[in-house]
Amino acid sequence: MSKPFTLLSSPLQGFTDFRFRNAFHEFFGGIDVFYAPYIRFNGKLEIKSSYQRDLDPENNQVPHLVPQVMTADVDEFLLAANYVKSLGYYELNWNLGCPYPMVTKRGMGSGLIDNRDQIDLLLDRVHKEVDITISMKMRLGYEETDEILRSFETLAKYPLKSIAIHARTGKQLYKGGVHLDAFQKCVDVAPHTLYYNGDITTVEVFKSRQEAFPTIEHFMIGRGLIADPWLPFMIRNDMKDYPVDRWEKFRAFHDQIYAHYDEFLQGPTPIKMKMQGFWGYFAEQFDNPQKTFKKIKKAGNLRNYVTAVNEILNSVK
Ligand SMILES: Cc1cc2nc3c(=O)[nH]c(=O)nc-3n(C[C@H](O)[C@H](O)[C@H](O)COP(=O)(O)O)c2cc1C
Repeated sequence: MSKPFTLLSSPLQGFTDFRFRNAFHEFFGGIDVFYAPYIRFNGKLEIKSSYQRDLDPENNQVPHLVPQVMTADVDEFLLAANYVKSLGYYELNWNLGCPYPMVTKRGMGSGLIDNRDQIDLLLDRVHKEVDITISMKMRLGYEETDEILRSFETLAKYPLKSIAIHARTGKQLYKGGVHLDAFQKCVDVAPHTLYYNGDITTVEVFKSRQEAFPTIEHFMIGRGLIADPWLPFMIRNDMKDYPVDRWEKFRAFHDQIYAHYDEFLQGPTPIKMKMQGFWGYFAEQFDNPQKTFKKIKKAGNLRNYVTAVNEILNSVK
């Protein structure tokens, strides 16, 4: 019998908002827990309306959603924690993974991993001042893969629910491979439950990660889930072949997110750009991803976009 595991949807800002999550869950399933893209503050102590919409329980039909915050500031964290609590969430995930210089230079995201004093200060205050469960999402470090190991001593002081690790450094951005050896070092000494994250793109990769890390029971999938929305379901059911309704379901899913974004976004350019963003990932399901993506990109207006999608999907029927 295969080992029990949970599959988590790793958040992608700009992609995995409530419209995407709801449609994904309705058409494909296979994900146990969805992480919402981060709440971020821009100098003001207020939750932007786009984040409010995304977390509003009325807008969310997935069974388990965990909000996330990206900050190095105690007051911002407290505000986010109290806000999500007021909506009924009992867990807040703290992003120490974001690799972009605009974020890391301000000591946030993966730029915070090696700043143990600030991590300590924030976790201390937050645990004293608000009753909420905190989980972490980290990279291995910003510069080096062992920064995270040094942070464990600090993290061990707090009752964190889990630490999800994207097994790259911040400096790598999304380039180069994941560091499985460095992840193993984390497994050896981590004071909390670890979740594996990074480059799970096929059932085979998932199985190889499961074999490599037999004590890990939680696996997060980010880009792989957008590139192939069937992936979690196929992992969950240990499938080699796609379901017979693979493309019908994909079409229905596509049409639903298109309709929902079209309703929300003003004008043809934003909706085209939104869907083009998705096709940057969707295209990977097709024999020639570059050609497929180019077809979408070339479509100058929505009518041509719809024609391009029809052509692409008719070619795989
Ligand atoms: C466009 C984009 C947006 C992302 N936004 C977030 C985010 O809001 N919060 C977060 O923790 N990680 C974010 N990530 C990182 C992913 O959740 C994930 O950790 C990373 O892509 C590695 O997993 P994967 O190889 O399965 O995609 C983002 C990644 C990308 C490419």
